[in-house]
Amino acid sequence: MSLIQLIYASTPFGFDNPTLNQILSVARRNNAHNQITGALICRADLYLQMLEGPRPAVTAQFHRISGDDRHLDVVLISCRDAQTRMFPQWHMKDDPARSWMWTQEQIAAGAVDAASEEDVRAVFARLSSAA
Ligand SMILES: Cc1cc2nc3c(=O)[nH]c(=O)nc-3n(C[C@H](O)[C@H](O)[C@H](O)COP(=O)(O)O)c2cc1C
Repeated sequence: MSLIQLIYASTPFGFDNPTLNQILSVARRNNAHNQITGALICRADLYLQMLEGPRPAVTAQFHRISGDDRHLDVVLISCRDAQTRMFPQWHMKDDPARSWMWTQEQIAAGAVDAASEEDVRAVFARLSSAA
């Protein structure tokens, strides 16, 4: 079955730990069922998520996520065919701590919009090779 990798960015709405834990636990349960893997970079000012798996499963899940009122301004950054998964072991890896990519000021100034598709894919490549 052919794989795709989809990346989007959004702005959290009502971000706190209980909300995040709820999102992650439902995500992991559903994603395991749907053969979706990936990672969610999550911080108060940014969600950046990669979803990878069979195209129909990933696009359907992305549409559900897009309509979720726990975030705003969902922007699709990349959607590509892939040969291999970056996060084969993770039904949704979360990365709350490593905010090495952008400062809050940079996010507020539109750093994610300004980043290229390759820049953003490189963020996930780096995350997938981190311990
Ligand atoms: C930032 C963000 C990321 C999410 N990621 C996923 C995900 O990877 N998989 C998933 O099933 N739901 C994810 N959700 C939740 C979905 O929007 C939706 O609530 C869920 O698919 C509904 O599942 P249920 O019908 O089993 O309750 C995410 C929500 C947000 C706000």
